[in-house]
Amino acid sequence: MHVIANRWYALLTSAELQSSRPQGARRLGQDLVFWRNTAGSVRVAMDACPHRGAKVSAGRMVNGCLECPFHGFQFADDGACTFIPPHPDRTISPAMRLDTLPSREEHGFIWVWTGPEAATDAPIPFFDFGDLSCAGSADAIPVRTHYTRAIENQLDYSHLPFVHRRTIGRFVKDVAREQFVETDGDVIRFGPSKDADALIEFIGPNIWRLRTGRAWQFLAFVPVDDDNMLYYTRSYQGVVGVPGLSWLVGRMGRFFNRFIFAEDTAVVESQPAVETRLRMGEMLVPSDGPIIAYRRWREANRTPFPPEKKGRTPTSTQEDVVDKRTS
Ligand code: FES
Ligand SMILES: [Fe+2]
Repeated sequence: MHVIANRWYALLTSAELQSSRPQGARRLGQDLVFWRNTAGSVRVAMDACPHRGAKVSAGRMVNGCLECPFHGFQFADDGACTFIPPHPDRTISPAMRLDTLPSREEHGFIWVWTGPEAATDAPIPFFDFGDLSCAGSADAIPVRTHYTRAIENQLDYSHLPFVHRRTIGRFVKDVAREQFVETDGDVIRFGPSKDADALIEFIGPNIWRLRTGRAWQFLAFVPVDDDNMLYYTRSYQGVVGVPGLSWLVGRMGRFFNRFIFAEDTAVVESQPAVETRLRMGEMLVPSDGPIIAYRRWREANRTPFPPEKKGRTPTSTQEDVVDKRTS
């Protein structure tokens, strides 16, 4: 699939990855395996054993190594194979390794770098939620569409009184009012005006926040593949400071979000489930300003994933990968 080049994508929540076992997940159009090394740091690789292609995510952790469930080959946290049970005394070729991807864990998410350039050490852009709490509110909502459709649905003001006419759009009567839209690097902001109380901010490639008073919504738009995406949602609030009550309010926000998202999903899944492009035959109008800004930004930064690797042979024989010098 196509993604935004050289960016960190939020792809999994920290809560989904235990330290005791690997976790497989389809993301960015690939089957990926996520695991933690002995220090608890996250590692991510293509979920395919270099031996004969079994999914290593179905394996287990053995002494800090990821063990393939098929023939028990073990892989260290840099992806290198460290043990081949039928050939314990032979030197293992460096080519026998998992195809790893740069990853980081921040803000309760696991982020993967898209390349093709080397990953940056700079802080991953995120929102400042100050003293607000999101306890109890985290949720995951799958939608059968390309993730760009879901992003655009959240950059769209004029759908509110139609899609959400019984809920959050009930009192929206002013869709003809001009919206403020601003693109600033990877950030798109929009709302009634620059200093409005309700302002939406999207940080490319895949996170979003709606600020309203002391109740803020957060979304991550997770690309599963060309036909599927997943929302990770959180509701932040500063209304209740008592821990148990905060959690309860978070849980209520989660329930409410599911209801609102069901309204969105019904219409978004009725659109063609394709990646959106600046020129794709749709007739955009001025009220689609934030969507046009997103498509422009995307066109300027779009790239295939995974990036092409140089100098790799597509297939190897056992003779290539097991060095017999020590046998
Ligand atoms: S396929 Fe993984 S060890 Fe054989
Ligand atoms: Fe909506």
